[in-house]
Formats: sequence, structure tokens, C-alpha cells
Amino acid sequence: MNSSDINHLDDSIINLPCYEPAGSSVSMTIADLMGHTLVTGGSGTGKTTRVIYPMLKQLLEKTASSSETKVGLCIIDTKADGEMIAYLKKACLEAGRLKDLCVIDCDSDYCVDLLDPVKQNGIQGAEVISGLLAALIPESEINRYWEVTFESMLLLALRLYFLTAEIQSYSDMVKFLIRYLLYFDVLNDEFKEALYSLQEDKETKNAAVIEETLAGHRMWKTLDVRTRSVFQSMAAPLLNSLSSKTARKFFSGGKACSVQDATNFGKVFAISVDAIREPTVGALVSTIIKGQFYDSILNRRHRDRNEQRIAGLVMDDWPLCATGGVNNRHSDVSALGMIRSRRGFVIAATQGLSALDLKIGAVSRRAAMGNFSNVFFFRGRDFELDAFASTYLGERRKVLQDRTKPAKEHTSRRQAEALEHERETFVPAVPVGALARLPLGEAFALIGGAVHSQPLCLVPDYAPTLEVEHEQES
Ligand SMILES: Nc1ncnc2c1ncn2[C@@H]1O[C@H](COP(=O)(O)OP(=O)(O)OP(=O)(O)O)[C@@H](O)[C@H]1O
Ligand SMILES: [Mg+2]
Repeated sequence: MNSSDINHLDDSIINLPCYEPAGSSVSMTIADLMGHTLVTGGSGTGKTTRVIYPMLKQLLEKTASSSETKVGLCIIDTKADGEMIAYLKKACLEAGRLKDLCVIDCDSDYCVDLLDPVKQNGIQGAEVISGLLAALIPESEINRYWEVTFESMLLLALRLYFLTAEIQSYSDMVKFLIRYLLYFDVLNDEFKEALYSLQEDKETKNAAVIEETLAGHRMWKTLDVRTRSVFQSMAAPLLNSLSSKTARKFFSGGKACSVQDATNFGKVFAISVDAIREPTVGALVSTIIKGQFYDSILNRRHRDRNEQRIAGLVMDDWPLCATGGVNNRHSDVSALGMIRSRRGFVIAATQGLSALDLKIGAVSRRAAMGNFSNVFFFRGRDFELDAFASTYLGERRKVLQDRTKPAKEHTSRRQAEALEHERETFVPAVPVGALARLPLGEAFALIGGAVHSQPLCLVPDYAPTLEVEHEQES
């Protein structure tokens, strides 16, 4: 495939072969892929091995030949059991793209530089960082005041830090946030000096930001104790996660590797964080990475659209890192509706919809669901998914037979004969309850407008075992 082909939305990019029905396959064009893909089904039904892995493999292989158009991928592995990373190594090796792979986990030499937006864009970058950090604040639809104001307080503290600290680092920044937001340690000499120097600096190009920072600082100082203590209790869990050993490793322990390299240069960026054992840190790390991915895609300009490489975000356990709400830079709900036109796509897998509802709320989840044009349904018992499949997987023709038996007291010959009628009608091809009865490994699928309402037994691909991995490495 050459570089002009890859930009053609009608070209087929994914072709998932099936054991059953023999000879059939599920195809996706680039346009389909840009419509986002959701894979649903209970644990062990085949989501990862029959859809996610084969899609990753084909995306890597089919776009490998051109450096301008090879696909960029950002993979969030919240299981962190080693399988996804082993599979990615194998797939990248086979596609000749091992050099493109950057893995960030507890053992790797890489990290994500959280301070990068400030290094790139000066004090304006503080807003990007505060937007990403604010991801962990639980959203409430009934009282947005606290979230919005807390995010402003966070921005104020970060601006103050970046405007005044001479040597800036992740751990120094976290220490500053703890002192400023938690201990309210703002009246010591260090702060006074920093603030005086800011005031003297007011003529610079950052005058407006400095003015706003000083005003915010005055507000923080004069807030009544109760209001401030609410903000402090909002800051505590965030700062707790930021100062954890795992977060320090991911954000400062090694050579910096950027998510933007995936979208801009076709790298394969994989982050492996155990979101089951460390849920808040897992959520923090994955949300920040996701925010950076979405940001990078949304920074693309429309007029360059045809030159842009396709870039995808893959979340194999979506509920563990799902993000909802609107108007924030890390929300899946907003991003799903925005990134397609800039050649960004999402591939996500979930065991059911209830887990997503617990994480982002039913309203956000429904809004997100509306933006997946490709859905695979593996075996599962989730009432809303049943209704979804039944509604969208189309209808099939069914012949109904009516047989009217005469009542016993009718004795005439004519009445004694049963009346039979046949009538044709349409029923849902996949009725409510059918998903629960699917054999393991089989799935129905909706790809754009194409419906696969006969169960498909997709061919699986597995992560290599440890021995194979060692052989490959040597
Ligand atoms: N290397 C392997 N060899 C044979 N079978 C495997 C291998 N790896 C996984 N399987 C089996 O394939 C089936 C599907 O696994 P898969 O990981 O795709 O499920 P899943 O739907 O992604 O589950 P989960 O929601 O728990 O991630 C499981 O029964 C699993 O035991
Ligand atoms: Mg899986």
C-alpha cells in the first residue's frame, strides 16, 4: 500500500477472517475505522484475542511501508499483566516496526514528561497541565461550581510555580502543590519574594497572566476557612496520587517519550499501568496520556487533512480508564465526536455497559455509545446491550403459522378441520437474550451500515508465551 492509498477513505484496511461462516470475513475501510470501534462481551469471550489483537496487527502491517503514512497508535493497557505488551512487541517485530514501539511501564526506561507543555509553550502550557490534572476530580452534574473553581485554583498554583521556581521538575512541582494547596503555606518569605518579583515583572508579555495569578493568590488567601477546606479536601486525593511512587515513575523516572510522537510521527506508544490494584493512580496516568493524545489530534489543522496519518487510541479495558463529561481535554465523550475529522480513531473494549455507567455515568456513556459506528457483540448478559443489538442489528423475515383448532362442540365437518394460515413478518435478527446464548468466541457485528447478524467465529491471535518471547528477543 503506498502513501496515496492510505489516505483514501474507501480503502479496506482491516479484514478479520472467520472460521465460521467458512470463507467470510469482517472488513473495514479507513472511513469505517474513523467511525470508532467498540467491542463488547463478558470476560474471556474473545474481545482482545479475536478483535483487538488482529486489528492492531493489521494496522501495523498494512501501513508499515511509508514513514509518512504509517499508523500512529497510543495503547492504554490498564490490565498490565504483560500480555498486551508481549503482543505489541511481536506485532511490531513482524511488521518491521520494533523501533517505533515505546513502552512505558513500571520497569521501562521511559516516562512521560508532564511538564512538557510548559517547556514547549511557556506559561501558557500551565493551562494544559491543570486541565489534565483536573481529570481526577469527580464530576457532578448538579454542582459544577466546585469542580470549575478547583480547576482554577489548580491553574493558579501551577502558574505561580512555573512563574517563580527556578529549577522546575515533576517532584518539585508536586511538593509545591502540596504546600500551597494542602498546607496553605503561603505567607512565608519565599512566597512573598516570589510574588514581589512577579509584580515587578508586570510589564512583560505575561503581564495579563501575572495579574490574574496575583488576583487568584489574593482570593486563595482570603477565602473563608470552610470554602478553602472544601478545596483542600478536593486537592488531597489528587496530590496523594501525584506523589505516589508509581506516578513518579511514570512522570519523571526515565527518558521522556511523547504521546505526540504517535500522532505526528507514527510511533506506537504503549502505557501499561495496573488500574485494578492502583485505581486512582491508574486513572490519573491513563487519563493524562489520553488527554495528551486527544490534544495532539485536535491540534491538527483541517486543511492538512489529506496529508495526515491516521492515529488511534486503543483501550482494551475501557471502563478502567473511561472519561466522561464535556468541555475537558480528556473526555472520551467529547473526543469521540471530534477526532474523526482529524483522522483520529478509538478502539475500545468493555465487558458490559454497567461498568461504564459506574465510571462515567449513564448519560455520558450513552452519549459516547452514539459515536461508535462499529460494534462487535460477543457473549454477554447486559440488558441495555441486548436492546442495542436487537435494535441496530436489523431484522429477519419470519414465517408465522397460525393454526385455529375448532372448539369441541362444533361437529360439522367444515368446522372440525383446523384452519391454517401462514403469514410473513419481520422480527429482530438478534432478539433480546440472544447475546447471552452465543457460543464462546462468536460474535455479531455492526460495521458502519453493514450488519453481520449471523454469528461469526472470528479467527483469534494470541500473545506469545514467555519462552517464545525470549526466543524472539535473542
Ligand atoms: N495463548 C492462548 N492460547 C489459547 N487460548 C488463549 C490464549 N490466550 C487467551 N486464550 C483464551 O482465549 C479466550 C478469549 O480471551 P480474550 O483475552 O480474548 O478474552 P476477553 O474477551 O478479552 O476477556 P477480558 O474481558 O477478560 O479481557 C479465553 O478463553 C482465553 O483463555
Ligand atoms: Mg481482554
